[in-house]
Amino acid sequence: MIKLGVLISGSGTNLQAIIDAIADNRLDASIELVVSSRPDAYGIKRARDVGIPTIALSKEVYREPLAADRLIVQEMKQAGPGRHGVDYVVMAGYMRMVRQPLLEAFPNRIINIHPALLPAFIGAHGIADAFAYGVKITGVTVHFANENYDRGPIIAQRTMEIAEEDNLESLEQRIHDLEHVLYPEVLQLFAEGRVVLSPDRKVQIR
Ligand code: GRF
Repeated sequence: MIKLGVLISGSGTNLQAIIDAIADNRLDASIELVVSSRPDAYGIKRARDVGIPTIALSKEVYREPLAADRLIVQEMKQAGPGRHGVDYVVMAGYMRMVRQPLLEAFPNRIINIHPALLPAFIGAHGIADAFAYGVKITGVTVHFANENYDRGPIIAQRTMEIAEEDNLESLEQRIHDLEHVLYPEVLQLFAEGRVVLSPDRKVQIR
């Protein structure tokens, strides 16, 4: 069983997929804390509805990004049973960069999901950028977060064809559906201790 802290900024459908996977025993984990970078994120309600402690940070807090990260570290380190802290920090639609305080406190333990096949289409609009470019294949990437935005070691990827009849809306829906399957599956690999990061920054699943 692994203890997770989840970072969100918005609707929290990936958070919901993780909550559901835990409830269905597909994921051997617990969510000890949800931190939102926006007080109005709908994901906060999803967490509260199932009794997960939440913290909502305001824009003002992020005026000092390093201080914001130090605050998150402090909360993540004392979350959970016996206040022993979380094992992994899971970014689920978190629209802020994680910086050195978080990266140092959780080395190779911060995981992100990106709605495109990295290293293509980095940034906040991966789905729209892939659609606008006209690629025929896109997908979803789960990767470690590091100091290079959207450039950390890749843990898992899943592909999907863009159909002629797709529009941006249908593509977004299909990408999100794929994310909601892939993210809990990858987190379960962590729960089973099967994710190994090599010194050459390649990730192996054992
Ligand atoms: C997802 O597409 C995720 O890949 C991206 O932000 C979106 C978050 O959606 N980083 P949600 O808040 O989980 O619904």
